[in-house]
Amino acid sequence: MVIDGKTKTCGLIGNPVEHTLSPLIHNTLAGLMGHNFVYVPFPVAEGRVDEAVRGAYALDILGMNVTVPYKSEVIGSLTAVDELAAQIGAVNTLVRTDTGFKGYNTDMSGLFRAMTAEGIRIEGEEILLLGAGGAARAVAYLCASQKAKKVYLLNRTLDKAQKIAEEVNRVFAGEVIIPMRLSDYSNLPERRFLAVQATSVGLAPHDDEVIIEDAAFYQKIHTGFDLIYKPFTTRFMRLVKDAGGEACNGLKMLLYQGIDAYELWNRTTVTQKDADAVYEKLRSATNPC
Ligand code: ATR
Repeated sequence: MVIDGKTKTCGLIGNPVEHTLSPLIHNTLAGLMGHNFVYVPFPVAEGRVDEAVRGAYALDILGMNVTVPYKSEVIGSLTAVDELAAQIGAVNTLVRTDTGFKGYNTDMSGLFRAMTAEGIRIEGEEILLLGAGGAARAVAYLCASQKAKKVYLLNRTLDKAQKIAEEVNRVFAGEVIIPMRLSDYSNLPERRFLAVQATSVGLAPHDDEVIIEDAAFYQKIHTGFDLIYKPFTTRFMRLVKDAGGEACNGLKMLLYQGIDAYELWNRTTVTQKDADAVYEKLRSATNPC
């Protein structure tokens, strides 16, 4: 990589940022596509997000990713926000415009693209969504915006599932999201579903944990999509496979949230060949054996 007077810079703001895989994604893409572009992590201390965004704009930074804990707080420093990101209330990508940065949520567009790449549909589907934290809430919005037929939102704490369901159903003027207590899964209709695992249960180093142990639950799943990518095969995925279903991890979501951001910043389209090459690098970085 040669850095010269014309190099365009993008970066990541968050706290902490030391373990991010985003530089691997973006600097690999720049190399493959021959762009004079560099991506660097910028740790930002609590209370300094607005300063960081203004400073980045003044420095002619082309775009930024935003990670924990600033995905909501950053919205106050933007001049425009994409519709889905505004509904979700979380932004992970800032794109430079003439007046300031515009915010997007490529976590969700990336999840949608990853699902499409795996041949998974949302439109018209009945979906089980496990969890009611920030990630699950964003997935609930994605499912409603992509016209899922029904989303059974299962959570250990029913209140949180109800809150998300009320909010999303109000925004989309329907009854798409049906909140349920996690332990009530035996009351689900007799059919097989796409299931999205959006809790942190099973994340390394807690590889042996899973949100529901009962093998009978997994008979209800034709495809299980775990947002976790470490370990590469989660216990949830193994249980789905043991029951005869298909299972995917979240590594392609990570890949495509990065590719969507790269495309927005550089006004380009990444080829499948380049996407596959970056995926292989991510695979080696997260799953060394
Ligand atoms: P994030 O914002 O990253 O999605 P979060 O807000 O901490 O994470 O939410 C974590 C989710 O995992 C919640 O849905 C949580 O259930 P509760 O709302 O009942 O707390 C769920 N979760 C965490 N540990 C769990 C466990 N051992 N069993 C069942 N659900 C669990």
